Amino acid sequence: MKFELNDKKINELKADFEVLFVQDKNLKNFKESKALFELAKYKGEGNLLDLANKRLFVELKGLDYESIRLASFNAYKELEKLDIKSLKMKAIVGDCVVRSFAALAEGMIFANYKFDKYKSEKKTSSLEKIIISSEEINSKNFSKEEALIGLERGEILANATNFTKDIVNEIPENYTPLKMAEDALKLAKENKNIKCEVYDEKFLKKEKMNAFLAVNRASAHPPRLIHLSYKAKNSKQKIVFVGKGLTYDSGGLSLKPADYMLTMKADKSGASAAMGIIKAVAELNLELEVHCILGATENMIGGNAYKPDDVLISREGVSIEVRNTDAEGRLVLADCLSYAQDLKPDLLIDMATLTGACVVGLGEYTSAIMGNNENLQNSFYEASKKSGEYTCVLHFNPYLKELVKSNIADISNTSSSRYGGALTAGIFLDKFIRKDYKDKWLHLDIAGPAYVEKAWGYTSFGAGGAGVRMCVNYLIEILKRAK
Ligand code: BES
Ligand code: ZN
Ligand code: ZN
Repeated sequence: MKFELNDKKINELKADFEVLFVQDKNLKNFKESKALFELAKYKGEGNLLDLANKRLFVELKGLDYESIRLASFNAYKELEKLDIKSLKMKAIVGDCVVRSFAALAEGMIFANYKFDKYKSEKKTSSLEKIIISSEEINSKNFSKEEALIGLERGEILANATNFTKDIVNEIPENYTPLKMAEDALKLAKENKNIKCEVYDEKFLKKEKMNAFLAVNRASAHPPRLIHLSYKAKNSKQKIVFVGKGLTYDSGGLSLKPADYMLTMKADKSGASAAMGIIKAVAELNLELEVHCILGATENMIGGNAYKPDDVLISREGVSIEVRNTDAEGRLVLADCLSYAQDLKPDLLIDMATLTGACVVGLGEYTSAIMGNNENLQNSFYEASKKSGEYTCVLHFNPYLKELVKSNIADISNTSSSRYGGALTAGIFLDKFIRKDYKDKWLHLDIAGPAYVEKAWGYTSFGAGGAGVRMCVNYLIEILKRAK
C-alpha cells in the first residue's frame, strides 16, 4: 500500500474510487447526493457505498486521532471487497497535522492486516494506492512537510505493530526461543543501525540467572537471552526495554486448566513488542540509544520441571520461594531486569503479559502502567492516549509488600491475597529494581490488549501489537522535551 499527497483538487485527481468522510450529520456538504441518501435512508452513520458514482461515504465521528483511525480503517475494509487499485480522498486534519496523517495511515494499514498463513485460501486486496488531496485544506497551520512526516510515521508505526502481531500470532510449535533469536538476528541484518547478541543457557548459568533457567528447565527448547541495541549518533538518552518472551506458558507443574492454556502462545507479547519498538525507532532514526532485553523460554511440565516449594537464587541475589510455577513471567523478568540495570539506563521499561488479574481488572483493551515515579507514569499515560493505546495507572501502596513476603525466602512469587494480582506482580518486580533505578522504571502489564479473541475497533482477531505504538510515541515525546 502506497500513500501519495497531492496538491491537485480532489475532482482533478484520477482514481478508481473516492472516499468521502461524513462528519456533519445534517449532510449539508453533500447536496448532490441528497437523492441517494434519501433512497438509502442514510443519515451519516456507518458507510454508504455509491457504486454508480464510484464513491464511498464513511462516517467520521470526530477529528480526534482515534476517530480518524477508525474512519480510515472502515473505508479500507469496505473497499477491499471491490476490485479497485486506487482511491482518492480529502485530507482529514485534527489538532496536529503530523498525528492526523499518521492516524490515517495507521487505520488503512491495520485494515490490511491479516494472519492467514495457515489458511488454504488467502484473500488479497487489490488496493495499492491511496491519494490524498491537500488542496482543500483550509486550516492555517497546515504544512505539507508535516503531513508527509505524519504519513511516514504512521506507516512505520503501523508496520512495526503488524510485525509484532505476526510474531505473537505464530504458533508455539514453530515459534520457539531459537526462532525468536533468529528473528532478532534477521531484524539486525535488515537494519544496519540495529545490533543483536544472542546468549544461550551457558551464559545464563554464568550470569547466575537461576530464576530464568528454572522456568526453562522442563522445556524441550533451550532458552535464549536476546539483546538488541540501537544507538543514534546524537543520542539524548539511554532507554532499555525488557520483554517477557514466554513462547508458551502451560503453567508448568501448577498446570493451567485447558481453557486458560489456550492463547498462551501470546505470552511472548512483551518481547515481541520490544522487537517492534526497536524496528520503529531505527526506521524513524530517533536520536536515542535503545536496548531490548528479551527473555525467551517456554514454561512446560516434565520430570525435571521446577516445582512449587523450590527456592531460587536470582541474579540480584534475592531468594525467591516458588509457590506457583504459573507465576513464571516475573521470574524471567527478575533476572532480565537485573541484567538490564547493568546497562545503566536513563529509563527502564518492562513489558509483559504478566497477570490474568490485569485483564479481569481493566478489561481486554487496557494495559496497566506501574512504577514508583508518578510523574513518569502520568507522562507515559498522556503519550499512550494519543497513540491509540489504552492504559491506566495502577498505584503501589506501602501495604502491598506484606503480601509477597515469604517465610523461608526473601520474597514469594505469589501473593498471599487473592485480590489485586496485577499490583502484587508489579510489587514483586520492584524487589529487583535497585535504589538508583526506582524512579526510572515503568512496568507495563499488557495481558489484555496483547491478544483478544475477537476483532475490536481497528484491531483484527488475535494479536494486537500492544506496547509498540504507546512506547514509540512516548520516546517521541521525550525527544520533544529534550529540545
Ligand atoms: N501468562 C500468564 C498471565 C496471563 C493470563 C496473560 C491470561 C494473559 C491472559 C501468567 O504467567 C500467569 O499465569 N499468571 C498467573 C499468576 C498467578 C499464578 C499468581 C495468573 O495471572 O493467574
Ligand atoms: Zn503463567
Ligand atoms: Zn505467563
